[in-house]
Order: sequence, then C-alpha cells, then structure tokens
Amino acid sequence: MELKNKKIIEKMTLKEKALMLSGKGMWKTYGFEKYGIPEFFLSDGPHGMRTQEGAGDWLGINKSKAATCFPTAATIANSWDKNLAEEVAGALGKEAVSFGVDMILGPGMNIKRSPLCGRNFEYFSEDPYLAGEMGAAYVKGIQSKGPAACPKHFAVNSQELRRMSNNSVVDERTLREIYTAAFETMVEKSAPKAIMSSYNQINGVYANENQYLLRKLLRDAFGFQGIVVSDWGASNDHVEGVRCGSNLEMPGNSGTTAKELVRAVRAGKLDEKVLDQRIDEILTVMLPVHKRVEQRKKSFDVAAHHKLARHAAAESIVLLKNEDHILPLSSQKKIAVIGEFAEKARYQGAGSSLVNPTKVENSLDLAGKYFSGKITYEPGYHRNQETDQKLVEKAKKAAVEADVVLLFVGLDEASESEGMDRVHMKMPQNQLELINAVAQMNKELIVVVSAGSVVEMPWIKKAKAVLHGYLGGQAGASAMLDVITGKVNPSGKLNETYPICYEDTPAYAYYPGKERNSEYREGVYVGYRYYDTVKKEVLFPFGFGLSYTDFSYSNLKLSDNGVRFCITNVGKIAGAEIAQLYIEKENPAVFRPVHELKGFCKVFVQPGETKEVEISFEDRTFTYFNVQTGKWEIEEGNYKIIIAKNSRAAVLQGKIYRKGTGAENPYKELPDVYQTGHIENITDEAYEKLLGHRIPDGTWKGELEKNDAFCQLYYAKGAVGRLIYWILDKMLKDSEKKGEANLDILFFYNMPFRGLVNTTHGIFTSGMVDGFVKIVNGHILSGLGKMIGAAILRK
Ligand code: BGC
Repeated sequence: MELKNKKIIEKMTLKEKALMLSGKGMWKTYGFEKYGIPEFFLSDGPHGMRTQEGAGDWLGINKSKAATCFPTAATIANSWDKNLAEEVAGALGKEAVSFGVDMILGPGMNIKRSPLCGRNFEYFSEDPYLAGEMGAAYVKGIQSKGPAACPKHFAVNSQELRRMSNNSVVDERTLREIYTAAFETMVEKSAPKAIMSSYNQINGVYANENQYLLRKLLRDAFGFQGIVVSDWGASNDHVEGVRCGSNLEMPGNSGTTAKELVRAVRAGKLDEKVLDQRIDEILTVMLPVHKRVEQRKKSFDVAAHHKLARHAAAESIVLLKNEDHILPLSSQKKIAVIGEFAEKARYQGAGSSLVNPTKVENSLDLAGKYFSGKITYEPGYHRNQETDQKLVEKAKKAAVEADVVLLFVGLDEASESEGMDRVHMKMPQNQLELINAVAQMNKELIVVVSAGSVVEMPWIKKAKAVLHGYLGGQAGASAMLDVITGKVNPSGKLNETYPICYEDTPAYAYYPGKERNSEYREGVYVGYRYYDTVKKEVLFPFGFGLSYTDFSYSNLKLSDNGVRFCITNVGKIAGAEIAQLYIEKENPAVFRPVHELKGFCKVFVQPGETKEVEISFEDRTFTYFNVQTGKWEIEEGNYKIIIAKNSRAAVLQGKIYRKGTGAENPYKELPDVYQTGHIENITDEAYEKLLGHRIPDGTWKGELEKNDAFCQLYYAKGAVGRLIYWILDKMLKDSEKKGEANLDILFFYNMPFRGLVNTTHGIFTSGMVDGFVKIVNGHILSGLGKMIGAAILRK
C-alpha cells in the first residue's frame, strides 16, 4: 500500500522507526524534529484529565494538574443522553488541549459482565447498544475539540483480577454480540482516532497481538482507520504486536523492545515495510491532531466546566423509590444529615482515572443553601468500615429529633477500584448497621447512595425514598441537592440491572475464573438478557428510574424503517422521559435472549404536553451473529416491537415481519440450557458445544511462567517467590485496613512478571525476567546466572 507519509518515512533509519513504535517514558512518544515529527502526548481522562506534572509515573505518584472531575461513565450512562455525553466529552477535549494533550485515554467501553468488576464505575453499561451509543458520543465530543480519543480496553476485559494475565475464553457469537459490539458501534458512528488494546488474552492470544481482533474485526469488519495503542504494559510480544497491527506500545522501556524489532527485521522475521506501515498510520492520524492541539488555548473555563459537571450529575441521578411522594423535600423541614459521605463526598473512582479536581463540593456545606429549617449532622460511620457504636448512637439521636433524615451511604474508596474486583456485592457492614438503626428512629428516611456499581439493598423497604447518584464528580453534591429539593426533576435510568443478591447474577458460577482462564460460559446472557429471559425477580430492572412526574405513551406507528409514538407528561411538573425500544423474536429457532435493547430516546416534556418521538431501526436491529456464516443474519418471522419504560415495563407493543437472510441455524446440537437461558450450571460439554472447540487448559503445570502475575506467586515453589507474595499481600491488607485502594500495590499484584521490563523502564530486560521466573520457581542459582548474563548482554 502506498504510504501517505512516504517522504518522511524513507528518511528514517531502522532504529528510529523501531523507537517510534514504543513510548518515550510514561506518556509521550518519540519525536524526531529533523523529520518534522513531534512528540505526541497521551493522558488519562475518561471523566477528567489526569495530566501529570513533572515526570510521569505509572501509578499517579506525581500529582496531576487540577482538572474538572466530571461524573464517571457509569454515572453519565444513566442519563441516556447522547448530547450531554458529547458536551461533557467536549469539555474534556478542551481541558486536554489546554494542557497540550494530543490523545485522551478513554472512554472505557467494556461490558459490565459482573457487578463485581472493580472498574465498572468507568464503564457505561451491561448492554452493548447503550454502551456503544454513549461511547460514540464521547468520542465525537473529545475529537470535536482537537485531541484524539482512545476508547478502551479492546476487548473482553471485564474483570480486574489477574487482568494482565487472564485468558478470556469466549465464543464468537458472544464476542460479537456482547463484548465487541459497543466498540463496533462506536467505531462506525464516531471514527475514533485510536483504540487501546486490553491486557488480557482472548481465546489464548493477547489482545495487543491478536490478529483476529486487531485485523479481522477492528480494521476489516468495523472499518477502523485509527491507531492501536497498547494498554500500559499490555504488550506481550512487541514484534508480534507490530505485525498484527498494534501501532504503539506503551509505556516506553528506554528502547529495550525497539531493539527486539530491529533484531527481528535484521533476522528476516519481520518485514521493515510493516514498520513503515505502522508509522504511516501513526503519522496520518496524529500529525493533524497535533497541529490543532498546538494552536491551543492554554486555559479552560473552570467555572463553566464545574457548572457542566453539576448539570451532568443531576441529569444522571436515578430516583429508585419515592413512597408517599416524600421527595421533593420542602425546605422548611428539620433535617438530620447523616453519613460521612455528606461531609466528604464519594464522587470518583480510583486508579488511572483519578482526577485532581479543581474543587469538590460536599452536601453538608451546601445544605444550608437549600434548607431553611434546622440542620443537624452526624457522620454515623467510619469510611474505613470499622463499626463505631458511639457514632451510631449519635446518629440515632439526630434522627429522632429531625422531621426527615437524609442518609448518605454507599461504597467507600477501598471498595471499588481499578486493579481489583469486589469480593461481594454488599455495602460495608457498618453502614448497613447504621441504616437499620436510623430507620428504627425515623420513618421519614431518604437514602442517598454513592457507588460506582451495583450494591445489594436489603434495607430498601425501610427507606421511603432512595436516590442513586453513582459517582457524581466534583459537583455531585449540589446536583443531588437540586434533585432532593425538586430544583431538578430526576430523569436518570439505570444502565444496569440491580439483582437482589450477588448469587442471582448470571456469571456467578464463573466469575472471575480459575487459574489462567476466565470462562464466559453464560454466553450472551449478560445482565437483563439473562434476568428477563429466565424471569428472575430483580430489585430494579435495567433501564429503571422514576420521576417526580408521570408519563403516558400512546399512538404507536410502525413502519419498515422504525417506530413513532407519543409521550405525554400527565403530571404537574416538567420532566424528561427515557423511552426504550426492545425487540423480541417470536418463536426463535436460533437461541437468543427474550428481548434486546435496540434504540432509545430522551425527551423533555412540559406538564400536559404531548410529544411525538421517533426511533429508527438500524442495521443490527433484527440480526444475530451467525458463527457458521461468520455474518450478521436475520431469522425470518415476526418480531415484537416493544416500547418500554424499562426492560420489564412495556407500554406499547406492535409486531413486524422480517424476511430472513436464509442462513441455517448453526446450533443444532446445542443443549437446551442456552435456548432457555438457564445458564447457571453450564457443563464442560455444553460449553464446548457453544465454543465449537475444547476448553483451553487453563491450569498451572506446576511452574510459573513469565506471563503469570505476581499474585500467582502464592503458588511459587521457591521461597523467594513466596516471600514476595507474602510482602505484597500484607501491604495490600494494610492499605485495605486504612480504607484506601492502594493502586501501586494492586498494580504489581496483578502484573505479570514480563511487566518488569516496562515498569522499570527497561532496567529489566526480557532475559532478566526469564532469570527471575527461574528464581521464583526455586532454581535460584541458574536463575541468578541467567539474570546476570542477560543484564550484561542487555538481552
Ligand atoms: C489502565 C488504562 C490507563 C493506563 C494509563 C492502565 O493501567 O488500564 O485504562 O489508560 O493504565 O494510565
């Protein structure tokens, strides 16, 4: 293929080309001024910029520049508002540009397979349609202001435990319909300039060197024209990565892997033309981006962005319960504000998305502006989860003396973070005890939840109202008070199902997997696709959310291209409604979930007003992915067209006939469990039928390998290995006791040994890692010999 930047590339030496394909340090790429190639600057920022000052480091030890902390992706997804997402992302783009950032590492697009994934707060939904639409809006917003967006992590990266070494074993249909579908929509609708490959293996091959993912899907099927950037430390075999279409290995390792590229070219194992191609792709995308970023404004409007963060948080709050219309709350009431989160907000997640906010609000400071009656405050619990009976007693007293209790609870910082999965779905025990105690004192109880992902709510019957703010960003507190007092009518709806308890979740028996494998045995039955198919009772269905007003639906009109219907605000105050379109195949031959989301719209309606809305059908509205033809096919027959308030509340229904594409059912021998959706106990045999091949052997063969993670040193045969494990584990437990998620330790805990090359910026070579692995396996002398030899030869 003719190179677009031939004139530049033909002047570059082989060594320079090799260097360009890895980072220079933590956040930059190599620049070559003599050829007009600048250094490109990449920075985290799914919900706020984390642009480090001074020397960059992996773990955020160096502070980042003050930036607006917007609500996280999981929060904004509850708004179901693509315009809002685009506006927020536009503001992110402006902040990035003001810091001279060429590429924003986000948004996070992974599917919430299990409520326990520690990074769910950074992801949009359990549903790929919603995630794809919101992701596309983010990419459009970011790129409209100049920088490149780098949606992540491609793909099937739905767990944090052993995230850098696990193998996601997934059948092709599930991969296409669930785990890569959001990426596909986002690529088609917003043309991201970059995409980040994930840490894990997919069916035995690391994402960053996965020909099927990077070539067949991303470029050939989705039409991706941007560049592939490895997640930080996700490059397993750089030569293979470059061959398969990965452009940039991050972070840098002082040229260690560039030497591997040079050696591969010299040995005839890799054609230099492949390097030219990868560089051409980088320059084609990044030179124009950099030009725009260079003409940048060096500041952004801090106050305007704070205001936008507040608006975004308010639009994303979900009203889960409102008995006796206790909300909105009148300002004259005597209020007891209880819960430490009211004084020190829980507003963002932990890990690479951690923002140093321009300011942070808290509900306690602001309450006086909203309520004219007496306000008392009691923290009620300690954030570090320790029970303190004295705090509970004081909270009870405050509750008794007040007209109404506003109780702020949820997940603390140590409960959810990048780098770890939760081990249960419960809220901290000390908070549960507090809720029960306070509820006994005062029935006028309004619970305000802050958490980035799903929690069990065994106390729900005791509360009159429940508002869920997810992680509302730096202005989440005023947004919540706006909703509590009725200044804003809540309109958010859940982007994920709230099951009653963790045991009810579809991946319960399979998550997070054993040893090296993460087996996606539940197939396409993720989230509501499972609960609704098997009619399992849930706490709140997917798409659920209340309002201070009511809406009625009427006048459904179906055409070949889509649906139209009317929404009337039948209440007394203005509000927004999110209408959802689900499709159900009547008597399907090819197994499928009972219904699937295929469209939605959010519309603002004045009291008494009726608005007609339209949702169009799209290419994938009626399709399923056929593993035999390798194509999206339509099964012939009738399809129910369901307009619903949430996945369990249909309000209008019609029927449409679709001519099929004639493909044969590829699943003739599949056991009934997949047809019925009862995927709770999938046997090896059934799973292998779904996969179409044997389950790969994911068990340890006694010895650790360089792709095993530090947390697996638990199995080390050598004392040195076990000692390292013991130290790491102790440090982790100590940090948990302090109530923090220590990302530095978590990072190493989940990092495979090969990650030492990148984390030490090339002080460790691949050969030294091999020596280290020998040592942890108990071969101390030969391991030391290997390490010293490799250190001398720099191999
Ligand atoms: C995370 C990415 C992040 C990168 C750089 C990785 O550990 O998985 O989401 O962009 O670090 O901070």
